[in-house]
Amino acid sequence: MCGIVAYVGKSSCRDFIVEGLERLEYRGYDSAGLVCINSKHGHLDFVKEVGCIANLKTALNGATFEGAIGMGHTRWATHGEPSVENAHPHFDCRKSIAVVHNGIVEDHSSLRKELSAQGHDFYSMTDTEVMAHLLEVALSKKKSLNQGAIELAGRLDGAFACVFILEKYPDTLLLMRRRSPLVIGVGEGETFVASDYLAFSDRTQDMVFMPENSFGIVKRDSIELFDFEGAPLEVKKQHIDIGYSAVTKQGFEHYMLKEIYEQKKAIDKTIAFYRLVGGQVSQVPGVSGGGSFATQVEYLENVWQVLGLTPKKVRNLTSFHLAGAGTSWHAARIGQFFFESIAKLPTSVHLASEFRYMPFFPQENTLWTFVTQSGETADTLEALRLVSGEGTPTLALTNVASSTIVREAGGALLMQAGPEISVVSTKAFSSQLVSLYWLAHRIALERGTIDVSGMRQAEEELFIAAEVLESTMEAYKWEISQTIAKKYAQYDRFLFLGRHISYPFALEAALKLKEISYLFAQCYPAGELKHGPIALVDDRTPVVIFSLLDDLLYSKLLANAQEVKARRGHVIAFAFEGQEELIELADYAFVIPRVAPLLAPLAMTGVMQYLVYEMTRELGLPIDMPRNLAKSVTVE
Ligand code: AGP
Repeated sequence: MCGIVAYVGKSSCRDFIVEGLERLEYRGYDSAGLVCINSKHGHLDFVKEVGCIANLKTALNGATFEGAIGMGHTRWATHGEPSVENAHPHFDCRKSIAVVHNGIVEDHSSLRKELSAQGHDFYSMTDTEVMAHLLEVALSKKKSLNQGAIELAGRLDGAFACVFILEKYPDTLLLMRRRSPLVIGVGEGETFVASDYLAFSDRTQDMVFMPENSFGIVKRDSIELFDFEGAPLEVKKQHIDIGYSAVTKQGFEHYMLKEIYEQKKAIDKTIAFYRLVGGQVSQVPGVSGGGSFATQVEYLENVWQVLGLTPKKVRNLTSFHLAGAGTSWHAARIGQFFFESIAKLPTSVHLASEFRYMPFFPQENTLWTFVTQSGETADTLEALRLVSGEGTPTLALTNVASSTIVREAGGALLMQAGPEISVVSTKAFSSQLVSLYWLAHRIALERGTIDVSGMRQAEEELFIAAEVLESTMEAYKWEISQTIAKKYAQYDRFLFLGRHISYPFALEAALKLKEISYLFAQCYPAGELKHGPIALVDDRTPVVIFSLLDDLLYSKLLANAQEVKARRGHVIAFAFEGQEELIELADYAFVIPRVAPLLAPLAMTGVMQYLVYEMTRELGLPIDMPRNLAKSVTVE
């Protein structure tokens, strides 16, 4: 959950490392550090500081830090509180070997005991420090760097992406990878390394993703990869151009606000991409004549090939499974309604961190879809490895084409939301809902429960819901930023309620508020209220109620809202046009135009996220880098 950058080249490494760390700050920001081999005296120069990269830059001012080989690290603490001692890099006894690490060394305490008994001194509480001492031990036995790496890999258990620099090898970076991601950027006479290629995307688009269980010997003009037995591995170069604007705020005050505004574009691009992947798009004369044209899509079977499936497998499906973590799990919970009511498939949803330790019963004719924005979430990856280990077909729904899950799943449905930098997921969530709705319909088309016109109508419904997502936010923007956010930012606890498909949406809304405003937000299925949670209702706990577009269930939800009002609760309602009773009952109501019933959550997404954004801005909190969090959780 940390960010690593490294450089070996012809020019000073300082600027690249600082800029790279700033771009990877979403991965962790409680402390940071950098180290280089000083080009004059050949020893290590290093600076470490608590807090964000801005603090590190201040500490760097006036410090000696001049070298053409170096690395940096921005931390999300797992072992040892955020402090200068625990910040990376970490060193061996003679401070001639430095290491930065993302992941967890499982058995570090027994290794630390063993090394301390051999006379090694430790100064930090981290698991990482043992790695520098273990390499020191290996190299003290006159082993080559490769042999040292092999011995080290044999001693480590857990997840690690790490980079070493050694005074003895002043032109070499030693990279090691198991589970946590690491990518190498290939430049002209210089080489970049990072946890995420966003760090060097404006310097090179040619890159090599470190294979699982491998180490690399990297110099400014060469890359060698080996497996942990020392056997050479192929260096597979890829060209990925994401465009610099994707990683800048483009004038927005926060990445979160930029990404909230990018949702409609992200949804349009995602549907257009699925049409291309799975069909043939042509322009046909419009029904209105006069030279107008309309887009016509033929849905072809080759979509299944891209997803690692076959038409026969899809037709024979008898059940469906979804798994994920955090916001992705909420999207999967909403997706369950799509696969059950559209594709007519019994669907189960699994929380990845729990699922991994439950008994697994492999089934025939099923498909497991793993929902993950980053494609690097450890719990979701481990759940995938468990399921695919049993030979069950797997599919990844992700926003990062170059992610680990794309390399490990049987197939991948790639959202086109563009890089999501803000820790709080916004445009990825709405693109996940769109993708799951599209996939449920595409499976239904293949299974014959809908026809082509049903598929085309589904795409139309998505475009309309995306329009409503954006226009509703625009409609309420002024009022939220001028009065509503101020008003509700004064409360310190909230109750979130939903029913049926709006319950997992309420879970998502509560998570958004908790993540960045640090306000207490408890969420319940509205039907559960009278079984206990209604005791929480008082005039200091606003109750946020998310409606839905099913008349029977709306009437049930309305009754729950009346139970709250009967106890003088304060109700904030997200209601749809025509739901007058709920709108009148509420102390404040956001009224949203009607969309296709199962897309009610998507339509409410924009105004919900914007309200949370403005409430947090009102509280003056760091919106893009909330405390204690990081963008992709690459450790268990
Ligand atoms: C959401 O705002 C959070 N950042 C977090 O819950 C996130 O959704 C979760 O960690 C899963 O991440 P993924 O989608 O990248 O797997």
